Amino acid sequence: MNAIAKFLRSPIGQKWIMALTGLFLVSFLIVHLSGNILLLLPDNGRTFSAFVDWMESRWIIRILSILLFLGFTLHIVQGILLYRYNRKAKGARYAVTATDNSTWSARHMALLGIGILLFLILHLWDFFFPMKVLKAFPHQQLYDEVVQTFQNPLWVIAYVLGMVVLGLHLSHGFQSAFQTLGIRHPKYTPFIVAFGKWFSILVPLLFAIIPIALYFKFS
Ligand code: HEM
Repeated sequence: MNAIAKFLRSPIGQKWIMALTGLFLVSFLIVHLSGNILLLLPDNGRTFSAFVDWMESRWIIRILSILLFLGFTLHIVQGILLYRYNRKAKGARYAVTATDNSTWSARHMALLGIGILLFLILHLWDFFFPMKVLKAFPHQQLYDEVVQTFQNPLWVIAYVLGMVVLGLHLSHGFQSAFQTLGIRHPKYTPFIVAFGKWFSILVPLLFAIIPIALYFKFS
């Protein structure tokens, strides 16, 4: 037990926590996108509302919701700690030299993470807080609230920008997580890298289409 705690406090252990929580959040993105894409069905939100109804009546979803918030918190706190550790280790803030051939995203993961955090605060303020904390509207009204939110072009732009930042963060984070966990193999690594690239383009793109489509459908 002591050995595990010691490992988790070491820089490698902290990177493992980042990788594991990151992959957990990736799995959330897939589920969240699958539900939200129902907003685009031409049925005035019937299927989306039925899905929300189903989610609201399942205790397992509540537990997953708590795990999700713990996952986000751990990923953010650990990210800050690792960023500070790297800065100290390098003696200067993410020093970039001419020989540094890492991608822009890889060198700016912390900055991109802050961008996602800002998006998340705005996003939770839009739907989660009014519906679940303030009880300002019932979950049956969620479709109308989403449609109304995306009648504001500034909100659409904010969401699209948020998805660009998410895509850049994932474009490095996805394959980096596998590398951290030591999942490297001449046969499988090219597949993981290619899958990560496609994932970091397709998932944010599909998320971004939702506010754009709702804006043009109802305005
Ligand atoms: C533009 C695309 C998106 C739309 C239309 C959207 C829509 C929604 C809606 C309607 C809710 C309230 C549902 C509920 O709380 O049960 C929600 C909750 C949430 N969304 Fe999104 N979302 C989008 C993108 C994202 C992204 C990219 C992330 C993560 C980076 C995210 C993270 C969350 C979280 C953490 C919650 C609270 C989940 C919970 O209830 O436990 N969303 N979203």
